[in-house]
Amino acid sequence: MTDKKSNAMWGGRFAAGPDAIMEAINASIGFDKRLASQDIAGSRAHALMLAQQGIITDSDAQAIREGLLTVLSEIEAGEFVFSTALEDIHMNVESRLKEIIGEPAGRLHTARSRNDQVATDFKLWTRDQMDAAVSGLEALIRALMAQAEKGADWVMPGFTHLQTAQPVTWGHHMMAYVEMFGRDMSRFKDARARMNESPLGSAALAGTGFPIDRHMTAEALGFDRPTANSLDAVADRDFGLEFLSCASITAMHLSRFAEELVIWSSAQFRFVALSDRFSTGSSIMPQKKNPDAAELIRAKVGRIFGANVALMMVMKGLPLAYSKDMQEDKEQVFDAADNLMLALAAMTGMVSDMNANTDNLRAAAASGFSTATDLADWLVREAGLPFRDAHHVTGALVAMAEKKGCDLPDLSLEEMTSVHEAITEGVYNVLTVENSVASRTSYGGTAPSQVRAQIARWKEVLG
Ligand code: ARG
Repeated sequence: MTDKKSNAMWGGRFAAGPDAIMEAINASIGFDKRLASQDIAGSRAHALMLAQQGIITDSDAQAIREGLLTVLSEIEAGEFVFSTALEDIHMNVESRLKEIIGEPAGRLHTARSRNDQVATDFKLWTRDQMDAAVSGLEALIRALMAQAEKGADWVMPGFTHLQTAQPVTWGHHMMAYVEMFGRDMSRFKDARARMNESPLGSAALAGTGFPIDRHMTAEALGFDRPTANSLDAVADRDFGLEFLSCASITAMHLSRFAEELVIWSSAQFRFVALSDRFSTGSSIMPQKKNPDAAELIRAKVGRIFGANVALMMVMKGLPLAYSKDMQEDKEQVFDAADNLMLALAAMTGMVSDMNANTDNLRAAAASGFSTATDLADWLVREAGLPFRDAHHVTGALVAMAEKKGCDLPDLSLEEMTSVHEAITEGVYNVLTVENSVASRTSYGGTAPSQVRAQIARWKEVLG
């Protein structure tokens, strides 16, 4: 007989129940209740398979499968009473199932262990989040493409070292982020394809002697195939780590863009106006409109990459197969997923709403001698100078303009020819920012024609 105070699941071997502190450190129900629907889906597939293989009766399987649906509806309705004494979602569900259907509930755990069960549940949950990340990224990409389409030929300064470098187009800048988030999307898809193998039926670590059909449960749960090594299957959390590393890179990209929005919306830049919907005011300074959403998105990479590092540290040095350390996996992935989805949604909203100030963008693009490279290229093309000499001549012209306090197109032809006699009137054509961007038609370049071609390509990719 099992002692009342010891555990109902393994009380056979235990004379006393756990210390309160033991219960507190051991229990995961506080967070793994988020795996309830995955746990129930896994158990229903397992029960069906057990009956199909003649391991339990059809009527027991039916009672189990229906009972599990009742448990699920109780959880969804918020009526389920979660118990810390029952440690985790797996035992909470099974224990309630026993209350509802009685004896057949005890047959559900045949030929499986919580080790393959938790790996299965957590994989199913993480797989959904990978899909959600792909959808979130796609929405963001579409918002960026709409901006790019609107401003395929708006001219703005392009920077290196955050110093004015060459004029670029707004559309080109937006599409740069489309490329980044596009790679993020494909990383999540790659990770999903790699992780989509079912651990169920690996049992505690060594597999089972029962004649189970792992291919059937794998298929029922939408996996491509069962995992090929039971030790690996219960010890593997690569899928969580891959989610976190894909999420970290995405969050890093979001952070870079958020930083640009913070700079662009400042009074010094005034490149964009962020909408009221994604800004906040100050309690003391009435003039303020703060880019809080952008700042918070910028910060999210800290906790998401932190989660990635945390799980790496949990997993390093763990011997095969399952160790309880691995229970520390879920909170990291849960928190990172929640914050990634929030950051993606906030960025999508901000991008859709933001208004570019095209006058300021153009004025900024025209300052800082941004067409100096165009001038040097002209000297190569039209006057036959070696590029190094053209660079030198242009440098002298920039110095002259700087001294005069004007821009390059404001220098007279006399002033130009005083530096190099081969310069003609035609040079002024390449000094405007519009002509500068229009000339950069190399594949992937900033010319509006190239930007439109890339938008069209992405439209085809997204369908
Ligand atoms: N709550 C556990 C976890 O999250 C489930 C697996 C427990 N397995 C065990 N052998 N104690 O990892």
